[in-house]
Amino acid sequence: MAEDVAQDFQPRNIIVTGGCGFIGSNFVRWVAANHPEVHVTVLDKLTYAGNPENIAGLPPEQVELVVGDICDADLLDRLVPGHDAIVHYAAESHNDNSILDPEPFVRTNVVGTVRYHHVSTDEVYGDLALDEPRRFRPDDPYKPSSPYSSTKASSDLLVRAWARTYGVRATISNCSNNYGPYQHVEKFIPRQITNIICGIRPKLYGTGENVRDWIHTEDHSRAVWDILTRGRIGETYLIGADGERSNIDVLRAILERMGQPADAFDWVRDRPGHDRRYAIDPTKLREELGWRPVHTDFGEGLDQTIAWYREHEDWWRPAKEATEAKYAKQGQ
Ligand code: NAD
Ligand code: TYD
Repeated sequence: MAEDVAQDFQPRNIIVTGGCGFIGSNFVRWVAANHPEVHVTVLDKLTYAGNPENIAGLPPEQVELVVGDICDADLLDRLVPGHDAIVHYAAESHNDNSILDPEPFVRTNVVGTVRYHHVSTDEVYGDLALDEPRRFRPDDPYKPSSPYSSTKASSDLLVRAWARTYGVRATISNCSNNYGPYQHVEKFIPRQITNIICGIRPKLYGTGENVRDWIHTEDHSRAVWDILTRGRIGETYLIGADGERSNIDVLRAILERMGQPADAFDWVRDRPGHDRRYAIDPTKLREELGWRPVHTDFGEGLDQTIAWYREHEDWWRPAKEATEAKYAKQGQ
């Protein structure tokens, strides 16, 4: 279904679903800073992971927040006309097994008229062995392990089916683990940083040998923009910044940068079915679209992220206690 020639699409009026979450809000702020000619309508349900503060202070004539559910077909029927693209970040939380329903996006008024970009994760490809030289490539089989990754894989497959069957002008991106400002304190890096600030010992799952491929969220935002505007319709692009690191290495780097002894953390119960390693081969994105990560120094990225959490205690404090209480119940 791919078109041979990359499109050159200049969106003017886009909908960003999940634009009050971690990565979606970074994308909205990136568009506001780099493309003042583009109007952004954020559609967000404001679940526990969505916070309007994440997009506060942006020009109201450029960025508008609509609080609502992407599964509300009537709302989408009213909202979508007049927009030329949808960038879909909204996702159900890890704890909620309900499957995201893409149906509202593919109703008649959407099909064929709106450019749709679907933001997904590398976790749809399952995991790799720690010592395997291979990395994930776009045509690898889908082998998701968790409820989260299998529901994301399901939504990717639905997008592919709707692109082929109904001609939806869609692209998909599968990105590796993001870090940076505005990430919820339930996630690995912000959890450990805010634990140290609170005087709580960081928590490492299992053996700590699991590997994640880290990318700064701003590099992810730029990649999504490049795919939206120049990617080939029907294609899947993998986004990664050659950032493979074991969890224990990441934790030790955080401890060192925050002036803590290297062993000042607790080993805790492993995650059931814990994926061993994720690693992205980003060749297609680099060669076809010329994308390159800017945040190539992970230590520097961590320093900036630590500084952000130190300076934004009022942003994360309200969620911290309940998040730790939930983890404590799970022995984590
Ligand atoms: P997040 O949990 O921080 O944000 C999700 C946002 O979606 C929240 O603002 C929430 O309120 C909103 N939302 C949830 N359900 C909704 C609904 N039914 N209707 C409208 N809004 C709804 O998530 P994130 O980490 O920013 O991830 C965003 C996207 O990027 C997801 O699709 C995720 O699968 C993908 N992704 C994440 C990572 C990562 O490292 N975090 C990596 C690759 C891909
Ligand atoms: P996480 O940030 O939840 O992202 P994902 O599960 O999407 O990769 O976790 C990143 C890695 O860190 C993962 O291997 C699980 C591990 N982890 C810990 O060791 N301790 C923690 O407190 C958390 C939240 C995660």
